[in-house]
Amino acid sequence: MSEKFSVVILAAGLGTRMKSGLAKVLHPLGGQPMIAYSLKLAQQLNPDKIFIVVGPQAERIKEVCSGSGNSPLEFVSQDKQLGTGHAMMQVEPHLTGCDGHLLVLCGDAPLLTERTAGRLLDLHFKAQAAASVLTMEVTNPSHYGRVIRGENGLLQRIVENKDASEEEQKIREVNSGIYCFQRDFLCKALKQVSCQNRQGEYYLTDVIEIASLAGHKVAALLAQDCQEAMGINNREDLAKAESIMRSRINRTWMLEGVTIVHPETTYIESTVEIGRDTVIFPNTYLHGQTRIGERCLLLPGTVIRDSILEDEVEVSGFSVITRSQLKAGVKVGPFAHLRPETVLQKGVKIGNFVEVKKSVIGAGTKANHLSYIGDATVGKGVNIGAGTITCNYDGKAKHPTYIEDDVFVGSDTQFVAPVTIGQGSLIGAGTTVTKDVPPHSLVVSRVEQKNLVRHSHSKKNK
Ligand code: UD1
Ligand code: CA
Repeated sequence: MSEKFSVVILAAGLGTRMKSGLAKVLHPLGGQPMIAYSLKLAQQLNPDKIFIVVGPQAERIKEVCSGSGNSPLEFVSQDKQLGTGHAMMQVEPHLTGCDGHLLVLCGDAPLLTERTAGRLLDLHFKAQAAASVLTMEVTNPSHYGRVIRGENGLLQRIVENKDASEEEQKIREVNSGIYCFQRDFLCKALKQVSCQNRQGEYYLTDVIEIASLAGHKVAALLAQDCQEAMGINNREDLAKAESIMRSRINRTWMLEGVTIVHPETTYIESTVEIGRDTVIFPNTYLHGQTRIGERCLLLPGTVIRDSILEDEVEVSGFSVITRSQLKAGVKVGPFAHLRPETVLQKGVKIGNFVEVKKSVIGAGTKANHLSYIGDATVGKGVNIGAGTITCNYDGKAKHPTYIEDDVFVGSDTQFVAPVTIGQGSLIGAGTTVTKDVPPHSLVVSRVEQKNLVRHSHSKKNK
């Protein structure tokens, strides 16, 4: 593409039909705010500049949009949401120096691919059109503007649903809301757009009729896949888009060598990475900045957020892992809970009903059953018996527990933190450890068992 162009993303709409306190373009899709997809696409196309028109919750949208990409970003405020044409009128004064063309994207159409946007630009440049529109054929056109073509088949105008006649409402070719414009033509045409319509809004779509009436060339590209340009207007659309996005993501990973046993019930956010020969069972949720290595096994019901799993990690079912690091060969679950800042070194085994928080667990250490390990540093080769608890909180502050290498912790042990257990020590079952333990000690805190006669019982049985 040798022609110069900039991108405008319309993101100032109220999103009334979402019935939400959150601006529409901030609603999450595949784990990211909707607007992130239009912005990513814009950046991939490498334009001279990207303009984002913002209205409600502008500050939050700016936060979400700043950062990555080569093309400079400029935010344009639209204080009153008087329609898509009005949104473009706000951009107009900022276009000095932006020669050539404009590609307009909608912040509420996040499924558009780079390929289709590229094809629209190509067509626009080749046809030397003043305006080009991406259209699509849909079974239910009621939420879209209809595409009106003349007898010669050329695009004449776009009529919004509310302004369409009964005949026009039957048309199934609709406007995707994605366009290319010659900059100079658009700037002039916007001056002629009025708000004389059912919604009292300035429609950007009016620019198409202005072009064709003036004898300018108008081009249309019919999208091959109508899902791609779908606009999200309400929560039902959001769920549809989520499902399309989900199947796209899953397909990508399957083609990269990941086995997904039941893609319909596997939820992988667009930010996640997965190594080949990893097998993912149903009802697994992988969120945020999660990276899964090769040959891992994620059994049903696994929920992982912002965590790093190295190669050959096995997560048995129904485990929840948040902001943790699991080194190669670690085994977790079933029913384990790893909370933020947990690091499991190579070969660690965390079993059923074990909760670990903000702790580093040394290589080869095992905590197989029913334990709470919080604010602890545990060495290598330690065995943590069933029912072990680090009593890390005294009601006011959190305190650390240190368990050195090769310690054997008997079942039902409490560590009253802060406390340190020296290397190679053995803690007898049922011990409450309140004082530091020197290396190679045997620690027991139980009272001696006494077997006495049970009087009442012996009487009754007589
Ligand atoms: C618009 C088109 C319609 C098309 C549909 C495709 C117009 C008049 N209609 O309708 O032909 O079929 O998109 O999805 O353009 N926005 C602003 N400022 C505003 C109003 C909207 O920035 O004042 C932004 C919104 O954030 C959104 C986009 O423009 O990203 C589209 O607005 P929306 O209100 O959803 O338009 P539709 O009614 O869907
Ligand atoms: Ca829309």
